[in-house]
Amino acid sequence: MVSVRKYDPKDYENVQFACLNSEGPATDPEQTQRFVLITFCNYYIEKEPENCFVLDDDGRAVGYVICAENYDKFKPVFDAEYLTQTLDMPPHRYEWASTSTVLQEKYKEEYPAHLHIYILPEYHRKGYGGQLINALFDHLRSKGVKGVMLTVGERNSTGIGFYKKYGFEFIEQWKDDVAFGMKL
Ligand SMILES: CC(C)(COP(=O)(O)OP(=O)(O)OC[C@H]1O[C@@H](n2cnc3c(N)ncnc32)[C@H](O)[C@@H]1OP(=O)(O)O)[C@@H](O)C(=O)NCCC(=O)NCCS
Repeated sequence: MVSVRKYDPKDYENVQFACLNSEGPATDPEQTQRFVLITFCNYYIEKEPENCFVLDDDGRAVGYVICAENYDKFKPVFDAEYLTQTLDMPPHRYEWASTSTVLQEKYKEEYPAHLHIYILPEYHRKGYGGQLINALFDHLRSKGVKGVMLTVGERNSTGIGFYKKYGFEFIEQWKDDVAFGMKL
């Protein structure tokens, strides 16, 4: 049976697997995978597991929504413990990781929380993405968080269609990133 539940530490590797599933071919696959996990996954499941939810199929996490509830809490820890892990990589990696939350910083007063969502392809278009974000929204509302945002690549028509369907508002485009937000 497929259902949404809170993240559990046993989901760690399956969430990482799902995150890496979004990666296409790379010239240095090992470094690319490490970079993606450092930049888009590990902080959330290691530092704020209570703000993460998974799509569960028979005990296996096959999708997730992961969240940092307060940008000012996220940023110093991310910079000190995660961004620094990219220092042995080519400079463009560090640059990308260090600018990956420029829009989250700019809009942190209205939207203190930010999220990342990913579901394995065979589970798409069945309403599970909506169930994941609704579980997260209920959770954030219960904690008094007033808004949540995300950025999506300008060419990601699936992601953009999804956020529009569920009522996210367009905030701003910066370079290739489009920001959407939801007031809670
Ligand atoms: C975005 C994502 C989480 C949506 O999950 P989902 O379970 O398919 O979403 P739901 O079934 O709840 O909602 C589906 C809606 O998303 C949008 N959508 C889904 N696939 C789409 C596509 N190929 N093109 C345009 N819109 C699409 C539509 O609005 C769709 O509604 P509809 O089926 O009524 O037309 C999932 O597609 C995913 O993990 N994609 C890869 C990662 C990603 O793009 N993440 C977001 C950007 S960071």
